[in-house]
Amino acid sequence: MLAALGPPTFPPLVIRISPDPHPMADTTLMDKLVSLCKRRGFVFQSSEIYGGLGSVWDYGPLGVELKKNVKDSWWRAMVHARDDIEGIDAAILMHPRVWEASGHVAGFTDPLVDCRTCKARFRADKVADAQCPQKPSKHPGEHSTCDLTEPRMFNLMFKTFMGPVEEQAAVVYLRPETAQGIYVNYQNVLNASRQKIPFGIAQIGKAFRNEITPGNFIFRTREFEQMEMQFFVKPGTDGEWFERWREWRMQWHQSIGLTPTRLRWHQHGPGELAHYAKMAFDIEYEFPFGWNEIEGIHNRSDYDLGRHQEYSGKKLEYFDQAGNERYLPYIVETSAGADRVTLTTLVDAYREEEVEGETRVVLGFHPAIAPIKTAILPLVKKDGMPELADRLYHDVKRNMPAFYDDAGAIGRRYRRMDEAGTPFCCTVDGDTLKDGTVTVRDRDSMQQVRVGTDNLVAYLRQQVGG
Ligand code: GAP
Repeated sequence: MLAALGPPTFPPLVIRISPDPHPMADTTLMDKLVSLCKRRGFVFQSSEIYGGLGSVWDYGPLGVELKKNVKDSWWRAMVHARDDIEGIDAAILMHPRVWEASGHVAGFTDPLVDCRTCKARFRADKVADAQCPQKPSKHPGEHSTCDLTEPRMFNLMFKTFMGPVEEQAAVVYLRPETAQGIYVNYQNVLNASRQKIPFGIAQIGKAFRNEITPGNFIFRTREFEQMEMQFFVKPGTDGEWFERWREWRMQWHQSIGLTPTRLRWHQHGPGELAHYAKMAFDIEYEFPFGWNEIEGIHNRSDYDLGRHQEYSGKKLEYFDQAGNERYLPYIVETSAGADRVTLTTLVDAYREEEVEGETRVVLGFHPAIAPIKTAILPLVKKDGMPELADRLYHDVKRNMPAFYDDAGAIGRRYRRMDEAGTPFCCTVDGDTLKDGTVTVRDRDSMQQVRVGTDNLVAYLRQQVGG
């Protein structure tokens, strides 16, 4: 099992106050990863047979397992391992007034610029991260022929209509964040559970943003999943809770195997803070295209409950029996992207090694998030080995995701499993028939040990932590 909430052992805190210069992205690693993801069935382009839909992606058989493992690990750490957090699953469509109260109708906008020469479109505040389509590779505005328009504001919410008539009164939005579904249910959860402040509500679900410049594979997409938790606290205690949540969230990213030195903090400066935030820190990861946010931790003060109280006309104050006082709770939010964390696990796990004159590509996932935990391989397709391997495969599969492969040379089968990130390969060979043992090959060290078939499931469970 993953260490969900161990005692606080704090990672090194690196706070970047001023932004780094933005170098051009190194696309080689990302190109290799995109290609591997398609080849091995992690991620496919949406509607590919129709030419694809821009920046929308589908998860294949291995990808759906990987992302599910990331989400399950988050849910275990945030909900199951704690007594002070409840889970919910709110609907994507919400009353349109929610988005007026939240500030999204008025303010969820990005500044957009067009280039009159190449017709490309950029976020005005991210020009330094963008690439002009003209060659040689430069940032927009840097070629003598670039002709950028003045920025204009563009709302990122997707609109649709409820009911048969497409009129303004029927407009509803695809939620751009899951958080609002938690705020509007805060009193329902409080009434239905035994929670008292401080307590939290967690949710995993889809969010939609009509991003101007999506890209970098599944890093920034128009449809994505968020893993969000809103922690309701007494005003005045928000600072302490904010610090605790920063520590716990950084620990979680390390618990799923991300390299600590590729994680750092970025504190939002006054010009960067979202309209609802009193204080905000991002957890950033060092991607091949630079340091970028994977999770935000925000002190949202009483902004959200205050706005919903005002717009709905319903009292959302909390009565604190112990202190005999009423107050509007403050909220500390932790908000991570499930797709973005999944991409981070892929980038972090990817490595190439020279083995006997050949390049070995490995996805070195933490066993807890690896889509397949074990492969069962008969050395040859004769002498009773496939039958024995098939029996073992079914034994193991009852306990953990496993894969049976008898196609091709054993070395090739190992390489396929290395690319899929499978931590262990068990091979049934001639000795298995004589002494009842199989070889268990470790993906990372490539060392092999012999393990008795009677003991195989227990051995593997111990190794993968199940
Ligand atoms: N409720 C607060 C909120 O939504 P955010 O910083 O806008 O805050 C939180 O988003 C997280 O959601 C980000 O750290 C990122 O992991 C993920 N995210 C946001 N926009 C995304 C997009 N277009 N594609 C993929 N993930 C995204």
